Amino acid sequence: MPHPQDLYVIILAAGNGTRMQSDRPKVLHEVGGLSLLGHVLATARSLKPKGICVVVSPTTKIPIEYSLAGEIGLHIALQTEPLGTGHAAQSALPWLQSKSGDVLILCGDVPFLRPETLHTLRESKAKAQALLGILGMTPKNPGQYGRLFLDGQGYVEKIVEFRDIEASVTPPDLCNSGIMLGDVGLFQSILPTLKTNNIKKEYYLTDVVALAREKGHATALGHASEEELMGVNHQKDLAHAESVFQQSMRDWAMEQGVKMMAPETVFFSYDTKVGADVVVEPYVVFAKGVTLDPGCHIKSFSHLEGAHVKSQATVGPFARLRTGTTLEPKARIGNFVEIKASSIGQGAKVSHLSYVGDSVVGEDANLGAGTITCNYDGFKKHKTIIGKGAFIGSNSALVAPVSIGDHALIAAGSVVTEDVGPQDLAIARSRQINIPKGQAVFAAKRKD
Ligand code: UD1
Ligand code: MG
Repeated sequence: MPHPQDLYVIILAAGNGTRMQSDRPKVLHEVGGLSLLGHVLATARSLKPKGICVVVSPTTKIPIEYSLAGEIGLHIALQTEPLGTGHAAQSALPWLQSKSGDVLILCGDVPFLRPETLHTLRESKAKAQALLGILGMTPKNPGQYGRLFLDGQGYVEKIVEFRDIEASVTPPDLCNSGIMLGDVGLFQSILPTLKTNNIKKEYYLTDVVALAREKGHATALGHASEEELMGVNHQKDLAHAESVFQQSMRDWAMEQGVKMMAPETVFFSYDTKVGADVVVEPYVVFAKGVTLDPGCHIKSFSHLEGAHVKSQATVGPFARLRTGTTLEPKARIGNFVEIKASSIGQGAKVSHLSYVGDSVVGEDANLGAGTITCNYDGFKKHKTIIGKGAFIGSNSALVAPVSIGDHALIAAGSVVTEDVGPQDLAIARSRQINIPKGQAVFAAKRKD
């Protein structure tokens, strides 16, 4: 259902995050390779709002701005002092000036919120003709979450932080997700009137509810699961968020046709792309930027980042693919092989104990065990080009920049410093000398 109202989004990201015990701003801690703030921002963008404002603090401003480099159309508002979520929202009021419609307030530490849930909240707010909508959840262990108190008709009357609930009152199970949707005008009139009459002496955004009710405004309530609405406040929450995220990525991958024998041991990033009939063996990690084309096979104990593995290619066991790697169809990367910023041609093999960096390897080339591209001279990186069908004998060092022609043959144990032409044979090692009965001569010398 289309919403007639303009939508603006405020993301609160100025909290100190002291409970994380970390120098890094809380919202920049990552889940599935993407910061908590990045997850929230992706949800915000998917709603196609007219504007997004991220509230930062003097200490989080620089790292957050740095992490948002490349994001366009964001407004940054500064909360000068950490005086609470209500104060953070107040800091965005100048940005809201002369705007109208709805404003959605998201917490930068609630990463899994789905756009569908927010659409539903918008709909129920519109249906109830309410000026305010609140998202609630009923977690198994409600812990420190703020609690939603309902009136006799089931409407939210007030939100009270857990620590502020009087001992004589039984806290309701219904918890506050921290997410609120309201009329811009309502926030403009109520936010400046917040008080700090609570244990933490902070301005609580949650107090907006009781103040709106006092003014006679209706409230709407939305619901979602505790996994979707979980907030991350300390390292244990972060680890739990990661496990929730990984579970959902594994389910998603299997729905796309990925076969995993032990999915609980496979870790994905938020941006991993998979095709049908991909096989992923136990204990594999996909860091950021990995694409797995249909039918490729990733064997146990491999780590991939920034790599494109094309169809029928195989990787591992115990392989590492680093950023900028492309494996063309049917390429084979074996055990204890590291590939960085290189393309490995169709059907080419790098089967054992090798390092290939800044290289282009032609189709059907074969790099023997222990082939090393010496791509760095201590100052600059240099390229190695290996032609189609070339055969690199075991334990060869290719000192870049160097180029090996198509179907060239490099003798085992060579240190190749000069280009090798197509079909040429290069032997770059000292010649072996055999001394007849030399062992006895040597032993006699030793005994002297
Ligand atoms: C908040 C809610 C609580 C809810 C919980 C859900 C309030 C008062 N409490 O508590 O009811 O159950 O979220 O996860 O709103 N922030 C600022 N400036 C500040 C303080 C916080 O920008 O001065 C930001 C934080 O960066 C964070 C968000 O607001 O992204 C929430 O702050 P946090 O301190 O985590 O609030 P909770 O204690 O989790
Ligand atoms: Mg929180």
